[in-house]
Amino acid sequence: MCGIVGVLGDHEAAPLLVEALKRLEYRGYDSAGIATVNDGALDRRRAVGKLVNLSDLLVHEPLAGKAGIGHTRWATHGAATVINAHPHKAGPVAVVHNGIIENFRELRAELAEAGFAAESQTDTETVALLTQLHMSQGLNAVEAASATIARLHGAFALCFLFDGEDDLMIAARKGSPLAIGHGKGEMFVGSDAIALAPMTDEITYLEEGDRAVITRAGAEIFDAEGRRVNRAMTRIQLSATRIEKAGYKHFMAKEIAEQPVVLADALRHYVQDQHLNLPVDFTGVDRLTMVACGTASYACHVAKYWFEQLAGLPVEVDIASEFRYREPPLSPTSWALFVSQSGETADTLAALRYAKEKVAKIVSVVNVPTSSIARESDLALPILAGVEVGVASTKAFTCQLTVLALLALKAAVDRGRLDADGLAKHLADLASLPGLMNHALGGGDYPEIAEELAEAQDILFLGRGSMFPIALEGALKLKECSYIHAEGYASGELKHGPIALIDARVPVIVMAPRDALFDKTVSNMQEVMARHGRVLLISDAQGVAEAGSGCWRTLTMPQAPDFLAPILYALPAQLLAYHTAIAKGTDVDQPRNLAKSVTVE
Ligand code: F6R
Repeated sequence: MCGIVGVLGDHEAAPLLVEALKRLEYRGYDSAGIATVNDGALDRRRAVGKLVNLSDLLVHEPLAGKAGIGHTRWATHGAATVINAHPHKAGPVAVVHNGIIENFRELRAELAEAGFAAESQTDTETVALLTQLHMSQGLNAVEAASATIARLHGAFALCFLFDGEDDLMIAARKGSPLAIGHGKGEMFVGSDAIALAPMTDEITYLEEGDRAVITRAGAEIFDAEGRRVNRAMTRIQLSATRIEKAGYKHFMAKEIAEQPVVLADALRHYVQDQHLNLPVDFTGVDRLTMVACGTASYACHVAKYWFEQLAGLPVEVDIASEFRYREPPLSPTSWALFVSQSGETADTLAALRYAKEKVAKIVSVVNVPTSSIARESDLALPILAGVEVGVASTKAFTCQLTVLALLALKAAVDRGRLDADGLAKHLADLASLPGLMNHALGGGDYPEIAEELAEAQDILFLGRGSMFPIALEGALKLKECSYIHAEGYASGELKHGPIALIDARVPVIVMAPRDALFDKTVSNMQEVMARHGRVLLISDAQGVAEAGSGCWRTLTMPQAPDFLAPILYALPAQLLAYHTAIAKGTDVDQPRNLAKSVTVE
């Protein structure tokens, strides 16, 4: 996690660093800091909490200089305090870091013995101290940083700045992504290209083990063996004006509302003249292994129902943090599919690398086409959701589902399970989805229901079949936005334990479109009501009419084709989480302890 940025510019660095950090705040917001070199003098400012606190500090204590580095932190080692905030400075060197230095305890002990004691609890400070030690032994800045990097174990993206050096930054990448930006007589470093978008669109991505010595004249890049290498420069298409709430109070509200539009964009991209525009052929594929984290993993769980039911293709779904260490056997005729909004999730990336030489094809479904996961896949399919700023994933989830639904249809066609008429019917259903979503977003007493949900200690979500993962997603969304404990269950599983939780204080949210499993879900709902559980039933008008009596509340959804109900029913789950968070007064767009992109394991 954490976002890092570096500038060797033509103008004052501090405003550029703060603007870039704003774009990186999705990587963590426990503290932020910058360091600059001004007429050779290295100095820094750091503040706990959101970036705005650093901006306020800079008003009172400005930092001059045209060379600088900056950091926004998601705490791993040591609490969110000023002392633990980056940049870490030791004598003539300042460092910002994303990742984890795994051997920092050993290094710290060694440094303390040599008289270089740490003041923070962070792993990063050892990088600064070790470089200081090397410089005190007579190495110049470049040699000292290289000697330091060679000693580090773990995952890192690092950027160094030095006292007395107005025209030097050193960047290094191992395990955590890092981009170098090229300007006219200016150079930049960023955790991703989005951070650098207002400054440049010419980007070079460092590869694993690379180290770059950067001056305003350009970057000299060395690989892990110390050989001088050329890395391609690419021109990135990024909007410099992405961070807009467009009149909404929160990004989450805007991103929920945007879903019909972005989903229609994704459909237009992948469906042309009743044909699937997907460069894949599932003939001969015997199994699909799908790997992701959090919300993206629930998208995979929904897709498992689709691939298995429509295409008869066996699917395994795993969360990346378990998959990567389980050493699962993978068939060479299978494909591995990785789903990630950011495309930078450390566990998902590691899982992809594990699968790389073992399966026939690595496919990813990502929102950021320049991300590490996209670049390391054989085929990366963009979900075209547009930038998602709210930490709780909303529009990315429904766009992931849409791309996965299209892939499942392609698999069904390739495997001879779906003829042209069948495909046309499903595509017509998909085309109706943006309209159904608009309808769903327009109704419901969400604020009123949320006022009551906000009083609860625990909330359960129930669903069957492909609605089970939506129940899991509803619970996750509610937990992360409102801090209320919530769990999702397959409704048939309730009586095997969780039903003991039911009493009049526990709201139970039942997601029950009128599909083949409706009656069974309603029976489970009755079991809850018989134990005085407070049921909120989410169904279509007929479902509510048939089963809604005796429920505490109902939410009426437009009628949806069974296949697509999970995409549509994600919306009430998101809206309940959003409005409950508002009722609780939590920080909706940046809930506590979270980060948008989880680049540490
Ligand atoms: C929850 C949420 C997370 C992410 C997860 C994976 O709202 O957003 O659970 O889905 O951290 O992130 P990506 O999709 O970037 O790999």
